[in-house]
Amino acid sequence: MKLSAFGEKFSGSTGIVELMDDLGTALNENPDMIFMGGGNPGRIPEAEAIFKKRLEAVLQDPQQLHSLMGIYQSPQGDKLFLNQIASLLRKEFGWDVSDRNIAISNGSQPAFFILYNMLAGSMPDGTHRSIHLPLAPEYIGYTDIGLSEQFFTATRPEIELLDERMFKYHVDFSKLQITQQTAAMCVSRPTNPTGNVLTDNEVEHLDEIAQAADIPLIIDGAYGLPFPGILFNEAKPHWNQNTVLVLSLSKLGLPGVRTGIVVAREEIIQAFSNANTVVSLACGNFGPTIARELFRTGEILSLSRNLIKPFYQERATQAVKWFRESFGDVPYRIHKPEGAIFLWLWFDGLPISSQELYERLKRRGVLVVPGHNFFPGMDTGWRHQQECIRVSYAQDGDTVRKGIALIAEEVARAYKQ
Ligand SMILES: Cc1ncc(COP(=O)(O)O)c(C=O)c1O
Repeated sequence: MKLSAFGEKFSGSTGIVELMDDLGTALNENPDMIFMGGGNPGRIPEAEAIFKKRLEAVLQDPQQLHSLMGIYQSPQGDKLFLNQIASLLRKEFGWDVSDRNIAISNGSQPAFFILYNMLAGSMPDGTHRSIHLPLAPEYIGYTDIGLSEQFFTATRPEIELLDERMFKYHVDFSKLQITQQTAAMCVSRPTNPTGNVLTDNEVEHLDEIAQAADIPLIIDGAYGLPFPGILFNEAKPHWNQNTVLVLSLSKLGLPGVRTGIVVAREEIIQAFSNANTVVSLACGNFGPTIARELFRTGEILSLSRNLIKPFYQERATQAVKWFRESFGDVPYRIHKPEGAIFLWLWFDGLPISSQELYERLKRRGVLVVPGHNFFPGMDTGWRHQQECIRVSYAQDGDTVRKGIALIAEEVARAYKQ
């Protein structure tokens, strides 16, 4: 088979594909493997019951059932649903948005594929532009998304050491460089993998820089506000005409419905919807059908505040406690868990690479994600990249606890060797 450049790039073994294959194979080979590696949300029975009830109501109503299965939606998404989202954002945050500022996608991942490639890569004048990540480590799912090479640049963060073996990354504005070749900046807030939440000041500062450079600031709110709202400290949501906010229903507990939501100025939404028509023709109706009523009644917010956030906050607190109890004199640090569904662990001076630690943990029956995968756009010369792992705490408590004990044992062994 002769492949195009696109074919070679996207059908080949990229880092993320290899890692996902490896995680899948490991799980198949050992069904008892403790899975702390993926981004699957936890199971929250009360939330599942709400979605089930919604689905049952749809199944009872021939009209709703027909809209679920029997029609192509407009490429931008169902107008009623767009209006409900817009009205929620206006009411909740006072943002000046209408249905023309919102587009639906089949998951937020494909929305990033379109948005990033729409803005960066080869430009009509022959130049090349890239997406800048002002605070690496960043989401692994961006890494291979660009149609061209050199697709990302990234700024190394400042590290603030905190009490009780915690630390926090901050944007290092003294090193942040926006050039003529920068197409946009993007941050996930809360950040996957670290659980960091950029401070309001950092976001405002990034916004000023983006506006001055006339480039969009993209905020990946997969874990953020207003839903699923997995934030453990106070942080202001941010949007204006220069911001592209990308939301998702996945971390509410609906990753299978594949619904993403893009909020941006009209010009961007129009361009995005056109591109999405080429790629997807129309968006799936399942997510909007289940969520519509939750948006109309505002239940999406109470669900996020009362069920989703407390679930992860409690899990994060427990996981930190268990790590502290298990690590003994290991020189570990935990990124302050401020949101999302992961702990990011840093082992200063770890004598082995994060990949080797991942392999050893896999042999012990626990899957994590080695940290070096989370530095898209950054050269590999920073030792810190090899000293971290991402651990999900979304599984049930007993499983997480067992996994933590194994991680602590293996890390201690690595330091002693
Ligand atoms: C930060 C972040 N952004 C985007 C996504 C993509 O999510 P989805 O395509 O399910 O909306 C994920 C998934 O884990 C994520 O962690």
